[in-house]
Amino acid sequence: MHVFLTGGTGFVGRALAQRLRRDGHSVAVWSRSPSSVAGVLGPEIEATGGGDDALRAAVARADAVVNLAGANLFEGRWTVQRKRDLVESRVGLTRRLVHAMAAVERQPAALVSASAVGYYGDRGAEVLDEESPPGGDFLAGLCRDWEDAALRAGDLGVRVATFRIGIVLDPEGGALAKMLPIFRAGLGGRLGGGRQWMSWIHRRDLVELLATAVADDRFRGPFNAVAPAPVTNRELTAALARAVGRAAPFAVPAGALRLGLGEAAGALLASQRVVPGRLCGLEWPFAFPRLDGALAAVLSGERRPATDLRFGRRR
Ligand SMILES: NC(=O)c1ccc[n+]([C@@H]2O[C@H](COP(=O)([O-])OP(=O)(O)OC[C@H]3O[C@@H](n4cnc5c(N)ncnc54)[C@H](OP(=O)(O)O)[C@@H]3O)[C@@H](O)[C@H]2O)c1
Repeated sequence: MHVFLTGGTGFVGRALAQRLRRDGHSVAVWSRSPSSVAGVLGPEIEATGGGDDALRAAVARADAVVNLAGANLFEGRWTVQRKRDLVESRVGLTRRLVHAMAAVERQPAALVSASAVGYYGDRGAEVLDEESPPGGDFLAGLCRDWEDAALRAGDLGVRVATFRIGIVLDPEGGALAKMLPIFRAGLGGRLGGGRQWMSWIHRRDLVELLATAVADDRFRGPFNAVAPAPVTNRELTAALARAVGRAAPFAVPAGALRLGLGEAAGALLASQRVVPGRLCGLEWPFAFPRLDGALAAVLSGERRPATDLRFGRRR
């Protein structure tokens, strides 16, 4: 199968690209700087990028498309321009992808597209499955528009699966790469009151899901890509402190977060108790259903070379 991947140079995309290659697929990665792709992913992964003609050419060859691109939420304050970038890099690119699909003779069989648990907004202790309505804040609107843009490919006969991804855990990037040094230094602590629910997934589980969804017809429509056991920020803080063997006595007051990060602080303080209702319906075998096991794997995995992304036995 030939898979066309946007966001393939990112934290999740890198692991997925390697995984798809190991499964015997050919992979082309769309990047704003195609010349850097070989350096990140190795020479077996094809690199492409550019305008809509290049996008159409890439889509025309694809048996499936995986869409993970998106500007980082925490690089800079959410000015009007930054919000535009966050939207354009997700919703804009997804719309361009679907337009490209409409323009080619042979559509890909599947579009697997990222979304985020931010879809649900700030919901206290409410248990949220895929049937729960979306929230009303900026991120919720962004996720809804992102999913809607992807679902339009369904009108072309393409099978579309969207994944509302929780906090992805792996030491190579994402939240943990930022948190681990702080916790190791004994400077860890909860965010705000720490009562907000945080929904997470180990990167290996996410990659397994995305790689499966590329070719598995059971994946259609929205899926919560989270482990079955979300935790409060207080619990996450305690588990991480335990895992690194240090105390985490501090608390960053919500006001200080808002002062430092502006509106983006809302993404750290929002409470999202998300469960993988549809994955449980499929009896999806999570390798890391519980946080302690995921963190133990994360910490032991740190000693592996970054390129060795082979999956171990399921535990
Ligand atoms: N990591 C998480 O915890 C998490 C949680 C929920 C949802 N997600 C979503 O899952 C997707 C993958 O996450 P990730 O952590 O792998 O993201 P990432 O490491 O930040 O990488 C995303 C990729 O998007 C591309 N990109 C960055 N800024 C862009 C821009 N302004 N315009 C167009 N493309 C841009 C980059 O590719 P090039 O530089 O090659 O163009 C980058 O490699 C993202 O859409 C993210 O929002 C992630």
